[in-house]
This record gives sequence, C-alpha cells and structure tokens, in this order.
Amino acid sequence: MDYQAIGQDALARIAGAQTLEAVEALRIEFLGKQGSVSALLKTLGGLSPEERQTTGPKIHALREEVTEALAGAKAALEAAALEARLASETVDLTLPAPEGPRGSVHPVSQVMDELAEIFADMGFAVATGPEIEDDWHNFTALNMPESHPARAMHDTFYLPDRTAEGREMVLRTHTSPVQIRTMLAASGASSDGGGAPVRIIAPGRVYRSDSDATHTPMFHQVEGLVIGKGIHLGHLKWTLETVLKAFFERDDIVLRLRPSYFPFTEPSVEVDTGYSWVDGRRVVGGSGDAPGHAWMELLGSGMVNRHVLEAGGFDPGQWQGFAFGVGVDRLAMLKYGMNDLRAFFDGDVRWLRHYGFSALDVPTLSAGVGVVA
Ligand code: PHE
Repeated sequence: MDYQAIGQDALARIAGAQTLEAVEALRIEFLGKQGSVSALLKTLGGLSPEERQTTGPKIHALREEVTEALAGAKAALEAAALEARLASETVDLTLPAPEGPRGSVHPVSQVMDELAEIFADMGFAVATGPEIEDDWHNFTALNMPESHPARAMHDTFYLPDRTAEGREMVLRTHTSPVQIRTMLAASGASSDGGGAPVRIIAPGRVYRSDSDATHTPMFHQVEGLVIGKGIHLGHLKWTLETVLKAFFERDDIVLRLRPSYFPFTEPSVEVDTGYSWVDGRRVVGGSGDAPGHAWMELLGSGMVNRHVLEAGGFDPGQWQGFAFGVGVDRLAMLKYGMNDLRAFFDGDVRWLRHYGFSALDVPTLSAGVGVVA
C-alpha cells in the first residue's frame, strides 16, 4: 500500500472513532512499534538518497497529521463525555457531610463539670484563684505560719521571685487559698462578714513536687467552703453525703468520719467511703464494715479554724463554717474505672478517645440532688 492510501485510511478511521478506547486502539495500530505508519518510516532507510529527499518529508508529514488527528479525536470525545456527565449528574445538597475528627472532653474536666452542676443545685457558686500564689494565701492565712511543721507536709514548688510585699511565691499546693480569697472578698470592709453566708466550690489545678504511680506533680482538687451562722459538722456530713450520692448515682453511699489534723480546720475529719471489689474494680457503696467491703479515704475536711476565719475577716464569735478538699483525679478514676493516674496527663489521644466524653453531650446526672438546701 502506498503511503497516500495508508494516510487516507488512517484519517478516515480516526474520524469515525466513537470511543476513547477505539482512538487508543487506532493509535497503536498506526503509531505503535508494529504500526503501519511506523513501518513506512522504517522503509526510508532502504531508499536511494534522491527518493528519500522527496518521499521522506511526505511520510514525516503524514505521521504528524495522524498524530494530530488522534489527539483531536481524543479531546473531542473527552469533552463530549464531560458534557454528558454535567447534564446527567446533580449534587445532592441534603446529603450529610462526611464526619471530621472530633475532640473529646477530658475525664477531669467532665468530673469538675459534674461536681459544679451538683453543687449549683445546692446553691454553691464556683470561685477561682491564681495557680501562682503567695506564701501568705497558701500557708500563713491558713494557720500555717512560717516554720510551722505542717508546711513540710506539702512538697512545695517555690518560685525565684517575690511579691511586691516581699512574700515568697509558690505554685499553690492546694485549692485552700481560694477559701481565704473568697472570705476576704465576702467580708469586705465590714467586720461582721457583710457578704456571708458563703457557699462556694473552687475547682482547679494544684502542684506538689511528687511523682509516682499514684502522684503527679500537677493534679486537681475541688475545695468547698460554707460560712454561716450555726454551721456545724452535721451540715458537712449531710452535704458530702448528698453530693456523693448524686455524683456516684447511688443511694447506698456510706461515709465514715475519722478524726484527723489540718492546720486550717478544727476539728478536722478525714472522710472515708465504703466500697467493694466488683470484676476487679473498686465500686463505691455500702458500709466499709459490711462483709466483702472496706473503707477508703476520700477527702479531708473540718470546721474552719477560728484563726482562718479571722484571717478572712470574719468574727469567729459570730460565724462558723466548714471546708473540704477532694482530689478530682481520684474521683474520676473511681467513677469511670481508670486505674493509672499518670495516663491522665500523658496526652495520648487513644486514651482520650476511650475515656473522654463527647463535648456535645451535656453531662447527664440521672438523679440530680433532689433536695435544695
Ligand atoms: N487542703 C487539704 C489538702 O490539700 C484538704 C482540705 C481542704 C482539708 C479543706 C480540710 C479542709 O490536703
């Protein structure tokens, strides 16, 4: 076949191709290694120099033409396919969007929210104070003057600077300094405590130089403070019982009050709760003296020491109060079944996905407190 006939045949068949697959098959048939146009090019080597001069450019031109025709056919078919898709497809705007990554609420935050909600039901406000405290609010005003042996009970982080008044600065070792700040704000200028009665909780971070399986250098407490007239230990016990029943969502919470010592409370009581082991987990409930049960220390508390009332601007002859401090991390472990405290602060996303809470769910406490004091 001469090259003209091959060229006409190729261009006609390319013009007639209906699909992209057909165009590709033609490309191989003409321009592939075994293709007919490629074969024409190979014949050039066997021609005389004169023939090559006249025929060579024509064969090259033919290859050029076929290549362009194939590209044109391909582009036209692709454009037609796009047109057809645009005409037939619609975008459904009512389809739900694909789910993106979601954060979760840390169990410590969840438990602080739950406690705030329970205490709010009983008329408690939430108070806060600085994490960098001065020595006076963290110790002295809480009846721990300098050189008081109880200061050694806290492994305190001291900061290099002092306050303008020359007080040493510390990372607060407990939330109790918020008691002092709250009392001073409530008592104000008046000598009899114009802002009383006081009912607050103070959740927050506290720091001690201590680290092992059950201690981390930063942990969380919730402080409680009530000041009023005629407040006594019975109010403390009832309040804690009511709150813990709501928190653990169980009616059978039994507390045991044990004499203890804190410089800022007098008398001081350690509060224990009964628990038992169920499937390898501590479950709070029942008396610690019941068969299969034991007592576990839960928190420290007591009646506000008269020196502390005075430091806060209240006359201890007229006002009484109770205070308590509870570890939030421990409460979270007990309620939600975590067993290693250090995992709380490792920042491992897998742990958070497992133990974290949805930010979209409001904390639900099935029972609430029921009684409003
Ligand atoms: N501040 C005490 C602690 O950190 C707890 C406590 C608070 C005890 C209030 C009594 C009253 O151990």
